[in-house]
Amino acid sequence: MFQKILYKSRKFYDDDFDWENYTADSYERRLKGDVETAFRAISRAGDLQFDPATGHVMSHGAPIHPNQQLILEAIGRLEPARVHEAGCGGGDHLANAMTLFPDIEMTGGDRGRSQLMLALKRHPELSGRVGVQDLTMPFSRQWPRAELVYTQAVLMHIHTAVSHMVALSNLFRQATRWVLLVENVQCHNFVRDLRALEAGGHLDWETLHLYRFDGSGGARAILAAQVPVENLVPLETDAQLRDGETPSARRLRRADEDSARGLFGFDAA
Ligand SMILES: C[S@@+](CC[C@H](N)C(=O)[O-])C[C@H]1O[C@@H](n2cnc3c(N)ncnc32)[C@H](O)[C@@H]1O
Repeated sequence: MFQKILYKSRKFYDDDFDWENYTADSYERRLKGDVETAFRAISRAGDLQFDPATGHVMSHGAPIHPNQQLILEAIGRLEPARVHEAGCGGGDHLANAMTLFPDIEMTGGDRGRSQLMLALKRHPELSGRVGVQDLTMPFSRQWPRAELVYTQAVLMHIHTAVSHMVALSNLFRQATRWVLLVENVQCHNFVRDLRALEAGGHLDWETLHLYRFDGSGGARAILAAQVPVENLVPLETDAQLRDGETPSARRLRRADEDSARGLFGFDAA
């Protein structure tokens, strides 16, 4: 309790979890408790269907989590040749995407080796497609490049120094066309930080178009694109993303403090 109060009054935060112990400590429990009780986590051939006319993914039988539905809908609509999930955890989104879109090359990375072991246990078909990747390290040419790179519930938990900005910058070097961020939008000022990274020359892309991407199940995400995407609402502010949510004052304050630590570009002295 005392530690919690101290944590809340700190200016510099750690990440939300100790990633070394995360699988046994939190992830499997959350997967079983929060996801598998209400949604089908692992889909087989025929369970899912993508309708190109509406851009919607339908699940036959049990529902899938709205965030996963959004990821699959984004893949279906953008039609990338290669997709990479950074922070893929137990691999369910990746494996289900492979089942629904068998012609797309899928890879995944995660900083937790035990997370990747869990992914291989749940989805043996991911063998040879996943590897250790710490998004907060300097960019590695060994990371698989992909047209679309996405994260789901990864950057929202990263709060150590300016690590989430390093991770953002890395994503834009790994992705050649699109970056999809399926994250809790109260945990960082994603739009503000991305624009600051762009203005400071920290993104590899020549142009950056930001959109709000809404899944048919009610989930929302940020889609960043090198070239304009039709029929999506352009994103100017974080407020636009948070519209309709009840903001947590503590989270918003932490997001502001995280943003304020960034030093961008090369300002003349
Ligand atoms: C909440 S889990 C989400 C996993 C998966 N994306 C999902 O939706 O089930 C967060 C994941 O991010 C990974 N992660 C945390 N920091 C990371 C980093 N710096 N680079 C790569 N992965 C990271 C963790 O190991 C963990 O698997």
